[in-house]
Amino acid sequence: MSKDVLIERLNEALGWELRAMNMYAHYAANIQGIHRLQLDPMFTEEASESLAHADVVRRAIVKLGGVPVTERNPHAIVHATDFTTMLERSLETETKAAEVYDGIIKLLDEVGDQEMYDSIEQIYFAELRSLESLRLILA
Ligand SMILES: [Fe+2]
Ligand SMILES: [Fe+2]
Repeated sequence: MSKDVLIERLNEALGWELRAMNMYAHYAANIQGIHRLQLDPMFTEEASESLAHADVVRRAIVKLGGVPVTERNPHAIVHATDFTTMLERSLETETKAAEVYDGIIKLLDEVGDQEMYDSIEQIYFAELRSLESLRLILA
């Protein structure tokens, strides 16, 4: 496996994290109605989590000798003020994140950098937890 492929995939993950930061911060500010009480804190926490994930991924890219992207993934961030749209879009985002990290974990298995593997695996598990939580909220 070439290092370039791994760097490319990590950059893809970074682009999605940068997008998630924007999306969750946007939803935290815009949520209206009674659900604001719970969803403003939840979206705010997801935004900070994405910031932290982006930092880990960015540092991994630098460690591998790559250049981290500075632009977010261009997938549209849909504006909404209602919780259903926001939660559906969140589920879509977490599904994508889990998929991207799943691929990276498999590549990292061959690299032999245990610290990098563990830190990315932790992110992957966090994405799976968010995904499961959103699935239950929307059930
Ligand atoms: Fe994330
Ligand atoms: Fe996430």
